[in-house]
Amino acid sequence: MEKETFKMKGLILSGGKGTRLRPFTYTGAKQLVPLANKPVLFYALEDLVEAGIRDIGIVVGETAEEIKAAVGDGSRFGAKVTYIPQPEPRGIAHGVLIAEPFLDRDPFVLFLGDNFIRDGIVPQVKEFRRGGMNSLIVLTQVKNPQELGVAELVDGRVVRLVEKPKEPVSDLAVVGIYMFDHHVFEAVKSLKPSPRGELEITETIQYFIDHGLEVGHHLLNGWWIDTGKMEDILEANRLVLETIKGEVKGRVDEHSTLVGNVVVEEGAEIEKSVIRGPAAIGQETRIVNSYVGPFSSIYHHCQVVNSEIEHSVILEHCRIEDMEHRIENSLIGRHVEIARSPMKPRAYTFVLGDYSRVGVL
Ligand code: G1P
Repeated sequence: MEKETFKMKGLILSGGKGTRLRPFTYTGAKQLVPLANKPVLFYALEDLVEAGIRDIGIVVGETAEEIKAAVGDGSRFGAKVTYIPQPEPRGIAHGVLIAEPFLDRDPFVLFLGDNFIRDGIVPQVKEFRRGGMNSLIVLTQVKNPQELGVAELVDGRVVRLVEKPKEPVSDLAVVGIYMFDHHVFEAVKSLKPSPRGELEITETIQYFIDHGLEVGHHLLNGWWIDTGKMEDILEANRLVLETIKGEVKGRVDEHSTLVGNVVVEEGAEIEKSVIRGPAAIGQETRIVNSYVGPFSSIYHHCQVVNSEIEHSVILEHCRIEDMEHRIENSLIGRHVEIARSPMKPRAYTFVLGDYSRVGVL
């Protein structure tokens, strides 16, 4: 977007416990779960920078150190990042409330750090910058409105917002990307915790409507994903992989074949293997005598030997060796080892964290 310095800030929420993504998020921030080998939070940062927003606050909770280690001062993204600690996850609107000293009276984009939007936010930011709106929300048609914030439109205007309606109000969900001007602070200060104990963003926007402030909306064409739900990670990874372009920075030996869009990151090694894209092989990962099929992302420092993997996400530092059958539709956390056991009696040996799921043949 334009290089000019339009005074608009970004606020990314990256607190929360990520309970729905267990077991991944017992030890890791949900915003760092990778899609096509890149943490979902990084796409949010890139989207903001692409829209000309460089002054970005990140609200962090108990996973603060991990987020800070991954993002740093933001210079790698062309941004200046300020961290805002949230002692307890008390809702999206609470994240805005505690960010007031950072945001000051500047308009800003609020971006939920576990949301992914295919086409970025340049058009929405342009619409908001044109002026005349106190808030802009992004809407999209969904099949599960009861799990999201939902907007009711009358004559093309947003008249009501309901958080996770039991009875359907509409099928237009409110995407986790919002724009506000300074009126947001009087709105969030007026809120009381909802039945789930949170200061709700939907009630914040309802305050705007009830007080005659202008709430615009943008209907999304491209897809959007709230990655905060377990089932969505494989699907999200699949969708993001479909958008990547193949690129080989690592080493592929002459006995290997890459088909379609395959990313082989720096230091990765592919030996005597077939990789059928779209697929991403992370830094320093070795794939030996194996098959990696479409819609697979294997993160950094993994080792896959004598095995077949398809439609799966494997996190960093995993070792998968000598699998007799193909691994499919699987999400495998960090530092996991799956290998053949030489010991007798012949038996499965598991060391699994809470909420793990294993399907054996
Ligand atoms: C939150 C908001 C909801 C919005 C959703 C988008 O839901 O409360 O209005 O539609 O994000 O991801 P939560 O993730 O807190 O369930």
